[in-house]
Amino acid sequence: MKKIKEIVKNSRVLNILPRFIYSTQYYNYRYRQILKWIFASNEDTNFTYGLTSKNKLEVSHALSLITGESVQKILEYLEEIESNASIRKHISSITKLHKDSNADLNVEYGRRIYWYALVRILKPKLVLETGLDKGLGGILLCEGILKNLKEGYSGNYIGIDINPEAGYLLTGKYAEISKILYGDAIKSINQLTKKFDFCVSDSDHSEDYEYREYFAMLSKLSPNGIIVGDNSHCSDKLAKFSLAQDRPFIYLNEEPLNHWYPGGGLGISLPKLKK
Ligand SMILES: C[S@@+](CC[C@H](N)C(=O)[O-])C[C@H]1O[C@@H](n2cnc3c(N)ncnc32)[C@H](O)[C@@H]1O
Repeated sequence: MKKIKEIVKNSRVLNILPRFIYSTQYYNYRYRQILKWIFASNEDTNFTYGLTSKNKLEVSHALSLITGESVQKILEYLEEIESNASIRKHISSITKLHKDSNADLNVEYGRRIYWYALVRILKPKLVLETGLDKGLGGILLCEGILKNLKEGYSGNYIGIDINPEAGYLLTGKYAEISKILYGDAIKSINQLTKKFDFCVSDSDHSEDYEYREYFAMLSKLSPNGIIVGDNSHCSDKLAKFSLAQDRPFIYLNEEPLNHWYPGGGLGISLPKLKK
């Protein structure tokens, strides 16, 4: 037996099948997840899922390093949004009424919980998000602003989307602190007069547009403002922009739980270091 194993191992041809079986075991579970998703989910784009506990812990450590907030407090912010039953109820009841054929009633947030944690940590006065889709990221950003308000820190949100149907989740108390502008993101940003402390770029993901959008955002960014790019898992534009502007940059990966999507991440462009 030992001899046969040795022969197979040393033969390029005989070793094809064992090598195939060994390597595909790293991916086969994805097919089970794909099958489950095909039958259980309505989503065709902008997928939603929970995140692994390992990912939440690791990203909290990284956010702690860049913000100075404790890991424990950041984990509490993540728990705060994930256990918030009223926002889940708001999202699922509006989704039901809206009859969005690309949305699930089961509410999951993916990496947007890290946007929420950043709002809770940084207490921005004005938040900008380009690209809203249903408004899932927007509603989490607004919920963070509302929680900050209860602690004495005021804040507002501006969302921009080219689609006049976008942002439909932002109703009720969320509409009171938010404004949605419908039109092209870069053109709309250029018309704004206010300064933003926290910007999320999630509109047109073509690399040229993304790069130009960062410059538009920079022109409206407060001195300590940060830019979060939602395309950094497939584009290096925020990293290149940050390098050109002498701004520190970090990329944090998300790790979806029980979903075939391999995950995106957060590119974060931080304020220039004081020399
Ligand atoms: C990936 S979705 C945004 C997802 C959203 N941020 C969330 O948290 O679920 C991209 C959105 O960008 C919008 N969009 C695409 N091109 C745009 C442009 N040039 N200006 C403004 N919005 C744009 C689309 O209409 C779409 O709603």
